[in-house]
Amino acid sequence: MAKDVIIALDFPTREETLAFLDRFPSGEKPFVKIGMELYYAEGPSIVREVKARGHKIFLDLKLHDIPNTVKRAMAVLSGLDADMVNLHAAGASAMMKAALEGLTRPGGARPLLIAVTQLTSTGAAALKDELLIDAPMEETVLSYAKNAAASGLDGVVCSPLEAALVKERCGKNFCTVTPGVRFAGGDAGDQKRVMTPGQAAKNGCDYIVMGRPITRDPDPVEAYRRAVSEFLG
Ligand code: C5P
Repeated sequence: MAKDVIIALDFPTREETLAFLDRFPSGEKPFVKIGMELYYAEGPSIVREVKARGHKIFLDLKLHDIPNTVKRAMAVLSGLDADMVNLHAAGASAMMKAALEGLTRPGGARPLLIAVTQLTSTGAAALKDELLIDAPMEETVLSYAKNAAASGLDGVVCSPLEAALVKERCGKNFCTVTPGVRFAGGDAGDQKRVMTPGQAAKNGCDYIVMGRPITRDPDPVEAYRRAVSEFLG
């Protein structure tokens, strides 16, 4: 299975995004993530522009709606030529299967489709008292991951600490996309449970998503190369 480091392009404007990408030599094209902030600010043109520069793109828009709406929206995202897109597993299997149909291009190719299980910002108290889910968090995450796998999805977003368990339950070909990765001795910022790229690799992560440890480094190209060499060995 492909393994890679994905840089989170958490910038508010096209200008800052392109200025960041311009720091890389023309032959070096990291896999990047475009999330809600940049997408809502700049629209689909930013996806086309970054793609035209030769980058693979994880479009992190976390869709969650009725199956028909998600299917049609996914068809639009697939047309943008993203390489990876995501949705909330909480939309349940009918929505996930519809998303896959919408994503599949004439000829059968499609972006990877990844599910968000429970957001890491949702704590045990909110799970029980607000979402009325009595199962423990880990069981909920693994159950959502299994539903995603059974619906034909390619993987889940999860913490690097959960990656090994997801692989154990859902199979080694079910891929794990993990934020919360930090260099040894680096600033964890608002990420609470972190792993280094090397530890993430050992724990079964297929794609690590790193934002600030790369984008805010004075030498982001070196930071990216360090992440790749620690992760891919
Ligand atoms: O800057 P940092 O490395 O923390 O960026 C991590 C990226 O992964 C951000 O874009 C963040 O929104 C995203 N993410 C996360 N935790 C999740 C899901 C997504 O940090 N559970």
